[in-house]
Amino acid sequence: MAAHVNTVLGIESTAHTLGIGIVKGKEVLVNELDTYMPEKGILPREAAEHHAVVFEPLLKAALKKAFPNTSNSAWLDEGMKHIDAIAVAQGPGIGAPLTLGVGLAKFLSAYYSKAIVGVNHPYAHIKIAEKGTGIKHGIIVYVSGGNTQILFKEQGFYHILGETLDISVGNLFDTFARKAGIKPAHGSALAKAAKNGKYVKLPYTVKAMNLQYSGLLTAGLQKLETERLEDVAFSLMHTAFYMLAEVAERAFHLKKASGAHVEGFVLCGGVAQNKLLQDIFQKLAKENNAKFGVASSEYNRDNGAMIAYAGKLLLEKYGPHDIDKLQPLPYYRIEQMAEIIEKQKQNDKASRQRTK
Ligand code: FE2
Repeated sequence: MAAHVNTVLGIESTAHTLGIGIVKGKEVLVNELDTYMPEKGILPREAAEHHAVVFEPLLKAALKKAFPNTSNSAWLDEGMKHIDAIAVAQGPGIGAPLTLGVGLAKFLSAYYSKAIVGVNHPYAHIKIAEKGTGIKHGIIVYVSGGNTQILFKEQGFYHILGETLDISVGNLFDTFARKAGIKPAHGSALAKAAKNGKYVKLPYTVKAMNLQYSGLLTAGLQKLETERLEDVAFSLMHTAFYMLAEVAERAFHLKKASGAHVEGFVLCGGVAQNKLLQDIFQKLAKENNAKFGVASSEYNRDNGAMIAYAGKLLLEKYGPHDIDKLQPLPYYRIEQMAEIIEKQKQNDKASRQRTK
């Protein structure tokens, strides 16, 4: 059942970042976060330990910033009085940190008698990007360390039109950077290394609406034996991004041809912060007489405010989740949302009939 909520606290813990955000009405009050930064890839247990350690100080900082009259001695009880509901990223994500976040959210919900809602992480990135760009009917290009998908909304739910069949574009960049000895081993450092590069040929693998990046990674690493790092980095990024642009452009025309209202292209997710990707999509939009939008960096990285914002939308539209049935979903695909919401409605109906 739909619920009226004004102030929502959102918890994000699907991967390396613990984020706590608070949304009141349409405004983001705070967006606090702390990121676990390992030298090598994410170790799930260490990510969960990091989140467990920073949770309390981060929650305190968020509540005190959002509600400045909160005292130091009773900040939790006083701060939580202002909160109507808890939203938590339910997946997809890495088991250990994700489970920790869901557990903490359920505790806050039970202890303070607040409604709770589970949020699909990509859905949150998309909704905050739509809010920021004003583009409500765009081809969504969602690119991050864990996901690479091209999506479009129909009848209120998002459909995946194309996606990577192996690794994500963020994983491609991070793994290449780590193996090439770039520090920090991250896409942003790779972009710097690629700055004055020249193009060398690398495999370009688009299969209908889907993409594959693992062959590009292997070939890129092999090329390092004979070519300059800046040239390989430049070519790896250009190849990966033009593959995305091809699929997104095809999605745009297919949807238009089917009669759908398509405004343009929206980039979101961690890799959307990349300037080259933004330039490519800006040109693509111009060539197609379409709009282009990208979420701000604060919301492209993992954060709690987007979970609070998306959670508020879901609560208003479909109502809270049953706390006993809310569980972490490490493989939660955005397309499962309709089914999960339908189940929730049936549960509501059954519990209403039982109480009659
Ligand atoms: Fe994300």
